[in-house]
Amino acid sequence: MAKVKSSYFCQSCGYESAKWLGKCPSCNEWNTMVEELFTKETLAKDKGAWNSSSKQIANKPLPIKEIKTISHERIVTKDDELNRVLGGGIVPGSIVLVGGEPGIGKSTLMLQIALMLATQKVLYVSGEESEQQIKMRSERITYHANEQCFILSETSTQNIFKQIEALEPDILIVDSIQTLTSAFIESGAGSVSQVKECTAELLKYAKESNTPVFLIGHITKDGALAGPKVLEHMVDTVLQFEGDRHLSYRILRTTKNRFGSTSELGIYEMTGEGLRQVSNPSEILITQRDEEFSGITIGASLEGNRPLLVEVQSLVSIAAYGTPQRSSTGFDAKRLNMLLAVLEKRCGMRLGMQDVFLNIAGGIKLEDPAMDLSVCMSIVSSFNDIAVDKTICFAAEVGLGGEVRAVSKVEQRISEAQKLGFKEIIVSKYCKIPKDLFDKIRITQIGKLEECMEAVFG
Ligand code: TYD
Ligand code: MG
Repeated sequence: MAKVKSSYFCQSCGYESAKWLGKCPSCNEWNTMVEELFTKETLAKDKGAWNSSSKQIANKPLPIKEIKTISHERIVTKDDELNRVLGGGIVPGSIVLVGGEPGIGKSTLMLQIALMLATQKVLYVSGEESEQQIKMRSERITYHANEQCFILSETSTQNIFKQIEALEPDILIVDSIQTLTSAFIESGAGSVSQVKECTAELLKYAKESNTPVFLIGHITKDGALAGPKVLEHMVDTVLQFEGDRHLSYRILRTTKNRFGSTSELGIYEMTGEGLRQVSNPSEILITQRDEEFSGITIGASLEGNRPLLVEVQSLVSIAAYGTPQRSSTGFDAKRLNMLLAVLEKRCGMRLGMQDVFLNIAGGIKLEDPAMDLSVCMSIVSSFNDIAVDKTICFAAEVGLGGEVRAVSKVEQRISEAQKLGFKEIIVSKYCKIPKDLFDKIRITQIGKLEECMEAVFG
């Protein structure tokens, strides 16, 4: 009989300890250590689920010059948003983790991608839904091109690998990693040791067979399931699928990518027929309005290599209850406080006794410093109750001295503004702008916040 070994694992970060602890020394969470059992056989890894006896030759160190470059022929899907976030397509042998809250649309996204790939054999393994349920979902989605899309409802990794050996898929999708169990581990599905073991087995399979693997991972607020945090170190790419449950827009963000940039962004809209790719996000992020309201400005932001024109809304009103409130949605609250201090000190605006509410429209979160100027102008506009012309947009960072600083890739921002029909863009005078851009749109270059107020409000 196999010997049973046990260890305590932190369910929040995956820290392993031989004895029980009240507080996890790694992530400082209380009461997260849970005892998990696993059979001794796991330690003798040779009996691993993915059997690769033919490749068991020990690796020898090689001089870097002698290592041949194998060009990674990426699989380019019909989903441009996915290609973009992966850095230009699916890399063979890579393992991608798609995380997100329950109900956000992870299963829909992956099934849709499986159905879209026309020439590849895809195996979609689900531990959550039956074949019937997946069939029903696929009927809602309009893409039916792929006849080589196979569905398997299974949770045991050993059984899954048996099916993989028989089918030899080109791409494997697993929904979700928390439902899988490996026979080598005693503890239940979703526990840290189980999730680690299953991922390690899949990782081995991906690397040895050069098959790309997509894993869906859950995030729960109370951390009942082992969160994808444990997995992030093991996989090549981590994609985060996020969005406001009340809005139909979903954002696919790269948070780790060994084969591309991490600042890329894909935007989808959840419709009755699956997820639709949004190729021109600026259109949805700017409200169509006839009237002009005070407190609304447009900022030319950049997410990765993609210019995004977004609407900034703010409301400044006298604090009714003593302490003024500062609330910000989609923009860093500390940065907002800093900009308010700059406006107060450098522009002489009395904002100390005012409530300030700031909102980035469309439910997206921005970290681009180029939004600073539009945030400032939005606050000034609301404070003075004078609307900003809706054909103007802004792209500049604001410094502590009230100086307006240059931002990266300004040409791209200007081109996007021009493409969307804006008449004027306000940028820093320290930006280097190619001459030909000046013919297409009015470019106002300023050096200080006061100059900008002068240019906008006269
Ligand atoms: P789902 O992919 O099951 O989410 P997850 O796997 O992340 O838990 O999808 C969640 C929601 O998407 C569900 O509430 C129904 C909705 N939906 C649509 O609006 N249109 C569709 O075509 C499909 C398939 C789902
Ligand atoms: Mg699901």
